[in-house]
Amino acid sequence: MTTIPLELVQKLRVAQQVVVLTGAGVSAESGIPTFRAAQTGLWAQYNPAELATPQAFQKNPRLVWEWYTWRRELVAQAKPNPAHFALVQMQKYVSQFTLITQNVDGLHQQAGSQSVMELHGNINRTKCFQQEHLVASWSPTEAIPPHCPYCGGLLRPDVVWFGENIPTLVFQSAREATEQCDMFFSIGTSSLVYPAALLPLIARQATRVEINSETTPLTSQVHFTLRGSAAQLLPALINLTWATHEPLNPIPE
Ligand code: OAD
Repeated sequence: MTTIPLELVQKLRVAQQVVVLTGAGVSAESGIPTFRAAQTGLWAQYNPAELATPQAFQKNPRLVWEWYTWRRELVAQAKPNPAHFALVQMQKYVSQFTLITQNVDGLHQQAGSQSVMELHGNINRTKCFQQEHLVASWSPTEAIPPHCPYCGGLLRPDVVWFGENIPTLVFQSAREATEQCDMFFSIGTSSLVYPAALLPLIARQATRVEINSETTPLTSQVHFTLRGSAAQLLPALINLTWATHEPLNPIPE
């Protein structure tokens, strides 16, 4: 495993405002395949980037609904891993902490993180394609996808697809926190999908850190790179930084 530089530990210990942006790599070790990893089983022949679009849904709503049903089942079985729990710890020790995620699986919240900014929605919510009504339940029917109980439109997951806009207020809050932070972490994201990938570039004033098992387009723009598994590196970083310190913001268990 990469050695964690002492200089990084020292900077994190005194940081006042920390922003963390996470991507699919953080949930990889919970058994949820990343977007750019090959899919397995029935879905091996499909490219996620070609399923997660409004055009794909319009062309073949059943296929896209069934793919999300499969992903929702993976998410339902998944448990947060040590990377998620390490970020819960980080929130306790940093005076102002913002967690921004591109993940739609809710595992940060399940681990205990608070006020998570979800840039790409949440797979466990459903809305209608036509009028965006949020729908909590629908009558059992043969139809796939089911129909919206309010307007009869087709139901879809409440996630942001390629070509769709991130919820404006969420992105604005993420941007504001990023502009003010003194440390910015990009963890387990390929830094290929915009506008999320803009955030580390906006954090010009901050010490920027990337934790990723591979090189990304962001790698050359950061001050520290920790190459390897987020589930191993994050707990090690937290331990090195605060093992002998009391938390500032204990989160009630
Ligand atoms: P990607 O699948 O594009 O990238 C995952 C990143 O995680 C890659 O850079 C991997 O090298 C890295 N990685 C994999 N396993 C890791 C591990 N155990 N520890 C550390 N790093 C690891 O996922 P995102 O960057 O999140 O959008 O993708 C961004 C968005 O594109 C997603 O939110 C999704 C996708 O289309 C929507 O669902 C709307």
